[in-house]
This record gives sequence, C-alpha cells and structure tokens, in this order.
Amino acid sequence: MIFSKIIGVGSYLPKKILTNKDLEKSLDTTDEWITSRTGIKQRHIVSPGQQTSDLAFEAARKAISNSNINTDKIDLIIVATTTPDKIFPSTACNVQTKLGIKNCPAFDIQAVCSGFIYALSVADKFIKTKSAKNILVIGADSMSKITDYTDRSNAILWGDGAGAVVLSASDQQGILSTHIHADGKYEELLHVPKRNVENKIEQTIEMQGSQVFKIAVNTLDKIVDETLIANQLKKEDIDWLVPHQANVRILEATAKKLEMGMDKVIVTIDRHGNTSAASIPLALDDGIQNGKIKTGHLLLMEAFGGGFTWGSALIRY
Ligand code: ACO
Repeated sequence: MIFSKIIGVGSYLPKKILTNKDLEKSLDTTDEWITSRTGIKQRHIVSPGQQTSDLAFEAARKAISNSNINTDKIDLIIVATTTPDKIFPSTACNVQTKLGIKNCPAFDIQAVCSGFIYALSVADKFIKTKSAKNILVIGADSMSKITDYTDRSNAILWGDGAGAVVLSASDQQGILSTHIHADGKYEELLHVPKRNVENKIEQTIEMQGSQVFKIAVNTLDKIVDETLIANQLKKEDIDWLVPHQANVRILEATAKKLEMGMDKVIVTIDRHGNTSAASIPLALDDGIQNGKIKTGHLLLMEAFGGGFTWGSALIRY
C-alpha cells in the first residue's frame, strides 16, 4: 500500500514584527483586549515589495533541505494561498521558478484558512494514484496586504508567513486520512468584497467575528468526531493537535472537545497571529523545532476558514 509521508518541513516568517503595543498607537484597542480575546501578542508583516512567493520560496527551500532529497526530485508544487502575487501566473509557478525546478506541474489552491488541509488532501490523492512521488505542499499568505488597518476588529488578527512540507510516496504510514468540506452560503460573514472608494478598487477582509467564532467552534467539534470515527481511533490516541491558529479560545474549545490539555496543542497564535493557509505548517515546524513533535507521533490537523471551508488531516509523523 502507498502512503503519503512527510519527509521534510520548513517555515519562514518575515522579519518585521507588529506588536499589540504598536497597534495601540493607531487603533482604539489595548494589548489587554487583544491578548484576552484572541491570544495574540504580535504578528510578522512582509516588507514593501516582499511577495507571498518569496515567503513560500524560503519555507520550501528549508523543507527540501530537511527532506534530504534533491530539488530536482520534486514532481509537483501546490501552494495554498489567498494572497497570490498576481491573479496569474499562480504563486506555485513563481515558486517553481525561484527554486529553479524545471517542468513539473504547479498550481494554487484557494480555501482561505483551510487551504493547507485542502492542499494536503489533493497531494495525498496524487501520491495514492501514483501521479506524483515527491510533492511540495506549501501554505503561504501575506494577509497584511488585504487587511484594513483602520478596522480594529480585523487589523489585530492577521499576520504573514509560510510553511511547507515535502510529501513523498512511502510504504510507511503517513497521512491516514483527510476530510474536506465547504458551505458557500455564509459568504457575507467572512469575505473580501470589492469596494469602489474614490475611484479606486479596495479589497480588504470583512468579518462578522462573533458569528464566525460560534460556527467555527461547532464545525471543528464535528470534524474531530468525523476524523476519529473514520480511523476507528479514540481521543487519547492523538499525540498532538496541530490546529489552524485563528483564536486561542477556538483552540481551547477544540482541545476541550478532545479532552486534551493545552500542553498537547501546538500554539503559535501568540507570536504569529492568524497567517491563514500558512498557520498549520508554521505550527507543525514550530512543534518539531521545539522538540515536541517526534517521529511516530499521531497528529490531528484541523482548520476552519472563509468559504466557509473546513477540514482535517490525521497524520503519523
Ligand atoms: N479592541 C477593543 N475592542 C474591540 C476590538 C479591539 N481590537 N475589536 C472589537 N472590539 C469590541 C467590539 O466593538 C465590541 O464592542 P461593543 O460590545 O461595544 O459592540 C466588543 O469588542 C465585542 O466584539 P465581538 O466582535 O463580539 O468580539 P469577540 O469576542 O467575538 O472577538 C474576534 C472578536 C477576535 C474577531 C472573534 O470573534 C474571532 O476570533 N472570531 C473568529 C475568527 C475566525 O475563526 N475566523 C475564521 C478563520 S479566518 C479565515 O478564514 C480568513
């Protein structure tokens, strides 16, 4: 039987850090409010001219280097992003050029904060159908480019970054299952509308935060059940929850559902904010670098985001 196994992980955060104290200077908010309502203390922000593909490239380079395979062995590149460099070409094509890879398919996936789970799910199918052997799966976003920094309910949440894995065909257990869903009827609760302001098109995130929060918690509860039932596993079999980092209170609710202490949850939201498609691979790399996630551990990844989209992946690392 062919499995998809993660053989290399890498991540990248832009250098500039925007703290809650920085935001206090321009917004009617406080470090205390942001910390208690979201768990966020700071986020990284791209420098002028830095593109999503630049972040993705840095993360990919590290993932390939950690995988011990040569770059020319990559036979597919998938980038999950909501903030592509341009409408086209895809950010994946730009990453391919930056990596110097010739002649492999490359495409983007757009599922907002669930993007990395969607990308993993697609990559897993490519491997299981023997259509690819070594896939670069990247989650990368520059959310600061679509954030309205005059809107206190939004500006506090988002950060920029990228995370990448090399997923390879293996006879050892890796991805056990992926589960992806969408329901388009909630568009108005979380979207990037096009607004014509003084003859200029502006596109920034609009979110009905508290409504999204409630739906996210309930939906993530269900995806946890769905994943455990599909694999005939019990809550206590999970070693680490590696969740999308939207709000620490959402993370706590999912941990409670799993009857898991927060010491079993990889938390990066305090340092990264919500980096959308990048947040799960950034958290994965953080957990590995900090010596928490070890070979053989069972990881539950889950995400909920704009669309609405949601999903999970159960992975033997
Ligand atoms: N500082 C101070 N006060 C604030 C701030 C702020 N930065 N932002 C909002 N407030 C105020 C509001 O104006 C409101 O005041 P009022 O009671 O006088 O009207 C009060 O705080 C409460 O506002 P809520 O929106 O109800 O606050 P809530 O506790 O829900 O927190 C938040 C807001 C952090 C956005 C939360 O709702 C959340 O995390 N939502 C879910 C986000 C999510 O999961 N998104 C999906 C993934 S993201 C993606 O896919 C792109």
